[in-house]
Amino acid sequence: MKLAVPKERRARERRVAATPDTVKKLIELGFTVTVEKGAGDGSSIPDAAYEAAGASIAVDAEQTYRDADVIFKVQRPLGPGEGDLDEVALIKPGAMLVASLSPYTAKDSLELYAKGRIDAYAMELMPRITRAQSMDILSSQSNLAGYRAVIDAAYEYGRAFPMMMTAAGTVAPAKVMVMGAGVAGLQAIATAKRLGAIISATDVRLAAKEQVESLGGKFVMVDDEEAREAETTGGYAKEMSDAYKQKQAKLIAETLKKQDIAITTALIPGRPAPLLITEEMVHSMKPGSVIVDLAVEQGGNCALSKPGEIIEVNGVKIVGHLNMPSRLAADASALFAKNLLNFITPLVDKDSKTLNINWEDEIITGILLTREGQIVHPDFSADLSANITKGGN
Ligand code: NAI
Repeated sequence: MKLAVPKERRARERRVAATPDTVKKLIELGFTVTVEKGAGDGSSIPDAAYEAAGASIAVDAEQTYRDADVIFKVQRPLGPGEGDLDEVALIKPGAMLVASLSPYTAKDSLELYAKGRIDAYAMELMPRITRAQSMDILSSQSNLAGYRAVIDAAYEYGRAFPMMMTAAGTVAPAKVMVMGAGVAGLQAIATAKRLGAIISATDVRLAAKEQVESLGGKFVMVDDEEAREAETTGGYAKEMSDAYKQKQAKLIAETLKKQDIAITTALIPGRPAPLLITEEMVHSMKPGSVIVDLAVEQGGNCALSKPGEIIEVNGVKIVGHLNMPSRLAADASALFAKNLLNFITPLVDKDSKTLNINWEDEIITGILLTREGQIVHPDFSADLSANITKGGN
């Protein structure tokens, strides 16, 4: 079984889908591993380290993809017209493509995989069940993104985070508000707390309250009937009613005025990110304040954030970095690669060293987009444009 690890070709992507550590384990499982030359450069992993782990280094994409039975990638391969190389066309029929495939936004690519008879596995759709926790790329990458958002905020902020009492006077601690207290938000709270900030946080899921408070943050939330039902069976948030959104906006507006930093992480799977910071709210913030919008790729939680840019409005900086995990590429790659290894391990028959997939397993049905020339995922097979329900009701 040949497993290929191509170089990532999309803009701002520094991660790689395997590390020397996971390569060793993949070889033990029975794979021969081919890594494209330079694939690890962005994550500070030289080709020689992959070679020492037992991989062979391919000189280009053609050689990497040729005859591969399994392809491990971070982002989806380039399709026709997306660059000077059509990677999808290099994948052999029947091969397994395992990556973050953005099926909600890149719907056309599903047709491409089906046409090429590629079995495409979208790792970001991993069900949130105990058995799959170690395979959950959203968790591993969001955690690092939450950390990095605080570091970026601290860098852009013209003041210190901790309180400092010095002979020359006292430096006040920064006030940080985190919106969306999921995986990224909780790590942002923990990181800002370690830096000495005063934290408040908001979410629509009531379950977040205890988690925020246990990290030393103050929980700010519209607590009503609707909020008690805001969590899906999959642990994600639902889209809230207009009435709830209005109440929430009022509460956020009051809290935000007093903050120095806002880190926004609120997402709803398969939907645009909820708008939490309006233009008016930005204008209510003090000059020198910083907003880091981690939801910028899904449309943004702040009305003014611009993808890939840092802008300034009335002295308030709004940071819209794209692909936050890639800004910590070495750690992000290590965790991502481990997630993929943990996914493939139970699929390999230990004795015959071949793939043995149980097509009924909820992990497989949860993430498999295409198989044998068909779009098979229930969210996409009937009507490509109609999906919105990932994560339960
Ligand atoms: P996410 O990335 O989809 O969303 C981030 C946060 O934004 C969530 O906490 C969500 O409730 C919040 N949010 C959505 N709309 C909002 C709004 N209008 N206002 C304020 N906040 C809003 O979610 P994430 O971080 O991936 O995880 C959500 C939950 O799933 C967490 O409780 C997490 O602990 C749990 N989880 C469970 C796992 C498992 O059991 N295997 C694995 C990973 C996470």
